[in-house]
Amino acid sequence: MSQVSRDKLVIGNWKMHGGKDENQRRLDALLRHAPERTHGVQIGICVPFPYLAQTEQALRRSEIAWGTQDISAHNSGAYTGEVSATMAADFGVRYVIVGHSERRSLHLESLATIARKARRALESGMTPVVCVGETLEERETERTKEVVSSQVAGILDEIPENLWLKLVFAYEPVWAIGTGRTASPAQAQEVHAHIRELLSSRFTECVRVPILYGGSVKAMNAPDLFGEADVDGALVGGASLDSIEFAAICIAAADRASLISAS
Ligand code: PGA
Repeated sequence: MSQVSRDKLVIGNWKMHGGKDENQRRLDALLRHAPERTHGVQIGICVPFPYLAQTEQALRRSEIAWGTQDISAHNSGAYTGEVSATMAADFGVRYVIVGHSERRSLHLESLATIARKARRALESGMTPVVCVGETLEERETERTKEVVSSQVAGILDEIPENLWLKLVFAYEPVWAIGTGRTASPAQAQEVHAHIRELLSSRFTECVRVPILYGGSVKAMNAPDLFGEADVDGALVGGASLDSIEFAAICIAAADRASLISAS
């Protein structure tokens, strides 16, 4: 839909995988294999909370950013087990995934909670990566756009307008997460264009808000997905555990970014 050029953004989500030694090997491999030419591409890795210090230590001299997979909706207080946005910010976090479908389904997170989490992240100077997407049943009953529209609207309604440009959205069809079943580039593009329209109908500048695709992204399917006009990058789960594969996805994004800047 849009002709505006946006940087590509590739974010890995390690989920609840890893351990100190394994992480170190993964981070070292990522530093070795990530594209040297990062012009037009930003890369981030979202790790489990206990490994933020280790990740900060490993990546702080690199161009690769790091982040968390969730955050508390509260600022501070008696919330046993929760981690606040200011705590994450202490570790140099740039990206905070909020509303991942695993949190929505396993932890019954409501849209209002997700929106508050996004707001907390923004207030602490971090970038929320807000996940939206339909279930298989919703797709099969042709409710994808309706579902995604209400998810996007619920976030925008909670976030002050002057912060909208600091949001990142990730379209993650629930049926494609961890299933090996990717949305086709055309399916992804259709929903991304719809989200783009929703955003820019609220505020034209929102055409710049990155919209990532997530759901079984691999090095093999990344180039085609990145070739779509409104796919600005990827949120990568399983494939981010293999740093060579993840780096190859980042290289596909860098290749796409350089094609766009040359055109
Ligand atoms: P996947 O996960 O790449 O393993 O499908 C994506 C995600 O959960 O963000």
